[in-house]
Amino acid sequence: MDRIRIVGGRPLQGALPISGAKNATLPLMIASLLTDRMLVLDNVPRLADVAQLQRILGNHGVDVTVSGKRSGEREYQGQTLSLSAARIVDTTAPYDLVSKMRASFWVVGPLVARMGEARVSMPGGCAIGTRPVDLLIMALQRLGAAIDIEGGYVVARAPRGLTGGDIVFPKVTVGGTHTAMMAASLARGTTVIDNAAREPEVADVAACLNKMGAHISGAGTARIVIEGVAKLDGARHSVLPDRIETGTYAMAVAMTGGDVLLEGARPELLETALDLIAEAGAGVAVTNEGIRITRNGARLAPVDVTTAPFPGFPTDLQAQLMALMCGARGTSRITETIFENRFMHVQELARLGARIHLDGETATVEGVERLTGAPVMATDLRASVSLVIAALAAEGETLVNRVYHLDRGFERLEHKLAGCGAAIERLSG
Ligand code: EPZ
Repeated sequence: MDRIRIVGGRPLQGALPISGAKNATLPLMIASLLTDRMLVLDNVPRLADVAQLQRILGNHGVDVTVSGKRSGEREYQGQTLSLSAARIVDTTAPYDLVSKMRASFWVVGPLVARMGEARVSMPGGCAIGTRPVDLLIMALQRLGAAIDIEGGYVVARAPRGLTGGDIVFPKVTVGGTHTAMMAASLARGTTVIDNAAREPEVADVAACLNKMGAHISGAGTARIVIEGVAKLDGARHSVLPDRIETGTYAMAVAMTGGDVLLEGARPELLETALDLIAEAGAGVAVTNEGIRITRNGARLAPVDVTTAPFPGFPTDLQAQLMALMCGARGTSRITETIFENRFMHVQELARLGARIHLDGETATVEGVERLTGAPVMATDLRASVSLVIAALAAEGETLVNRVYHLDRGFERLEHKLAGCGAAIERLSG
């Protein structure tokens, strides 16, 4: 298994390109199941999760071709995927595939909408919590699907097609909103989704579906209205920039000090996080090319923050913020409200010398003057990258194990950071 070796203490300087968003790419790829025509996606990041979803969609009969780098393009520019689900050969998503990536459960919506049936393995728990799918099932039932649980599989049936309905989510769910929106696009009649997730990735998927001929309005707000259509067409769509990658590198620069332009980043996708970074004392400037983060000298001020659905502070940046606050001058409080078990990074940050006390859903972080390198490992993507951030500022060498978590969601992480002067390398084997 690969490891990443980091020698901390160097400020980051230069420019760092931001990739297309993983969490928009995955549902956009799944949307290809809704049509027998070609869906072309540009600015797709090269990630293990994208490759894994290609395999899962391939199992349903989707042809996926990846175009290589065109001359004149820089190597980190996203790839182009062409997805064609002309014929769906299998409406079952088996356990061994779904268990590797939770988002693949979302195929249930498009499959039942287009084919009248889907058998999708229940995803099970994962390192950040129990993560049930009851709300996704409820949404499909509201659209007229009959749902049975058979041998660990969710079996959704709508032999005469789905019909529009009113869906009120009791809790904001990104996956529930994606699933409902995709399924309702091919349902007969009107669907209204209330308390919908307002995440930018939901709006990006809606924009793509509308290019495919769907009639969706209100995506990006808490009420989405969908007028179903009989058929969807092909389309071409470019994936929006990754706000979590942007926030992660912004925090890395705030942690090490320095001056980095996050190229292609869009500030409106992460205002709450940028405000917090500025409040802590780092410089945040919006330019025509992206977002410039600077910090010289002084230690950061502590912050109090609670994760919340968009536009609140994202749970996907909670671990990174905690790493940042490990070096702050004073005590921060970080409360996690989205996933009950998303604190796996705490004990690993402690190995680097962090002082963190956990009490239920709140972590109290007492800033220390210096962290020191150590071997660490993490059990999920964002926890792993929080260790990278801490290591970049720690004295001496840190070895991050289980790098495959990072490869799921960060494109060319070590190249991007090394390009800004970090002492970071991948050790194979
Ligand atoms: C998406 O997961 C993201 N994944 C997650 O990013 C992100 O952390 C999460 O949204 C919250 O922003 C992708 O976009 C691929 P939810 P999702 O449904 O859709 C509860 C990362 O690191 N819930 O919005 O699975 C659930 O337990 C990942 O990139 C139910 O109770 O999350 C949680 O408490 C990790 N019943 C809350 O809702 C359900 O049926 C929000 O989860 C569904 C969800």
